[in-house]
Order: sequence, then structure tokens, then C-alpha cells
Amino acid sequence: MKYMRIETRILYPDPDGIATAAALLRAGQLVAFPTETVYGLGGDALNPAAVAAIFAAKDRPADDPLIVHLADAADLPRVTASVPLVAQDLAAAFWPGPLTLVLERGPAVPLAVTAGGPTVAVRVPAHPVARALIAAAGTPVAAPSANRFGHTSPTTAAHVLADLGGRIAAVIDGGPTPIGVESTVLDLTRPTPTVLRPGGVSVEELEAHLGEVALESRAVAAEPLRSPGLQERHYAPHSPLWLVIGPEAAARAWLRERAAAERAAGRRVGLLVPDEDAAALADLDADIEPLGPAEDLDGMARRLYAALRALDSRRPDCILARDPGERGLARAIRDRLTRAAAGRVVVLAGPI
Ligand code: TXA
Ligand code: MG
Repeated sequence: MKYMRIETRILYPDPDGIATAAALLRAGQLVAFPTETVYGLGGDALNPAAVAAIFAAKDRPADDPLIVHLADAADLPRVTASVPLVAQDLAAAFWPGPLTLVLERGPAVPLAVTAGGPTVAVRVPAHPVARALIAAAGTPVAAPSANRFGHTSPTTAAHVLADLGGRIAAVIDGGPTPIGVESTVLDLTRPTPTVLRPGGVSVEELEAHLGEVALESRAVAAEPLRSPGLQERHYAPHSPLWLVIGPEAAARAWLRERAAAERAAGRRVGLLVPDEDAAALADLDADIEPLGPAEDLDGMARRLYAALRALDSRRPDCILARDPGERGLARAIRDRLTRAAAGRVVVLAGPI
């Protein structure tokens, strides 16, 4: 299916805007809205035509399933076949919030939502605009990140319009999203709960609740990607991005050497680095997007996608980035940078 070119309305998160957006959703139209993680591209999850329109607007392949968003955990039985105790516990602990649970699909959910699979991904977002919208729509809302397939997730309404303007009925402008990276996707249908995508809820927080948590090998990151499959095209900037992982001093030295070599060859360099590196490398002739202090992981996550979009829009010949480690939110940042690097990962020896 191909999308139809339409005018995209910009709505504001006041009662009028929410009511208009909810009516559009009920009519099978698509509305982008802020969540606490990134902007979502919403459509009525129980309406197969709306679900098909989501895939068309994003140019998303049909084999990549969507997350269903609920206003309240009490609505889980509307979209899942059963609600295991562990899901109830996690919902009580982390919802509303950036945790997506993969459970058995309920019969009301169109197969297009789950890409034909027997499981469905569900979350209750914490953003007040998202919650008000879903509650007003009165239906579960399927919402992938509101970017075109393969692009960086949007953290502002302007990012959404840059990717989807003319393809969707409306976007609610609720300002920049507070977390900045997507939700953690946790599969509860496997014998051991498994993190499929690290995100806003850290693996450490999940372990504190669940004891053992498995990590899908992709979520372990740090390893360079071997097969350039679907996943790896996610978050890809236009300019080739290099990610350096290693002890701070060595990684910074690598950035300096590499940037200098690129400049010597007459190539333009972009740096996506913490403030400390930005200061230490300020003498280099490079385009620097500082991500904030290295110990402020919340700030780094919040700025990551906007900084990546800003740098990429200036089309440097390459982008060099430094790995933040894997503690707490850093694991999600590392995951997104690893995907953006699509195999261009340099691992230096020594403790990180
Ligand atoms: O924070 C977020 O999760 C944002 C906001 C809008 O809620 N949404 C988001 O959706 O990032 P999306 O579609 O860009 O990413 C959803 C991820 C994909 O990697 C998809 O493959 C996975 O969740 N997923 C969805 N349904 C699944 C399922 N049934 N089993 C396994 N993975 C699933
Ligand atoms: Mg996405």
C-alpha cells in the first residue's frame, strides 16, 4: 500500500487538540504524538486499515511488528491472550513508563500489528499527552517511532514533520521528549525474560525485580555487527558513523588521531561526544555536537537523536562517536550508536 499525500495538521496538547486527535484516530487516521521516550506514529490498533496505513506512511517492512499503547494496565486483556503474574508485577512497578512487554497476542489484535506472529508488544506510556490521547480515543493505539523506516527516531514535532509531513493527518506538538531513547522491549514469552532492545528502563532495574534477565545477543552490543540485516539499518545517519569503545583516555586519543587524519585528507569530520571530549578536542577543525557531561546519562540520552540529526543534516564526510559504557541508560545509548555505526565499531583494549 502507498500513502496518500495529505496536509499534516499541527495540533497542541490542549483539550481541543487532544479531542481532535482522538477523533482522527477513531476515524482510522494517523496521528503522531509525544511519549516520554520518542514521538510515536499512532493509529487505531484494532483497525486493520489504520495499521496498514502506519506501515505505508513509514515505508516500514511488514515483518517488523508494532507496539500497542494502552492508557492503563487494566486494558491488557483487550490485546493479550493472558496476563501472567510476572507481567502484572512489572506493570505495577514500571507502568506508566518506558517498558514494553511482549506477551501472547489476543484475538482482537489484527495480525498486521504483530507481523503475523503469536505475540504482541504492549506498553502504557508515561507522557501525559500520550495517556490523554489514548484514553480519549478509547482504543488501544499502535505506534512505532514516528520516523521513516531506517531513520533516527524523532524527539521533537519538527523531526516528525521532516520525516512524515504530508503523509499523516496530524502531529501533536508536546515539545521535546524527556527520555529521548525508545522503551526497553522485554519478551515474557520465553522461559527467561529476555531484553530484545535496551531502552528507558535499565537492565539493572529489571534484574532487581526479576532476578535473572537474559539479553538478546544484539542487546549485549559491544560486538561489531556481522550481518548487515534489517535491524542494522535502523538509526542510520547519511554520513558513515564510527563508534569507538574503550578506556576514556585511549578512546579520546583515537578520536583525535582519526579526526586529524580525516582533516589532513581534506574530509569534514563530525564529532558526537560528551562535553569532556568536546573540550579536549576543541582545537581540532571538526563539527562538534556535545552530548552533555559524560556522567549525565539522562542528558546524553535526551540529546542523542537531535544531535545526530543536526550533525547529519550538515553532511560531514564522517561522524566519530565515543561509547558511553553499559551502565544504566548507557546500554541503550551504546545500542543505538552501535546500530548507527552499522559495523564501524572500534574496540580498544583495556577496562571501559
Ligand atoms: O519507546 C518506544 O518504544 C516508542 C514509543 C513510540 O512508544 N516506540 C517504538 O516503536 O520504538 P518501534 O516500532 O520503532 O520499535 C518497536 C520495537 C521493534 O524493534 C519491534 O521489532 C519490536 O519492538 N517489537 C514489536 N512487537 C514485537 C513482538 N511481538 N515481538 C518482539 N519484538 C517486537
Ligand atoms: Mg523505531
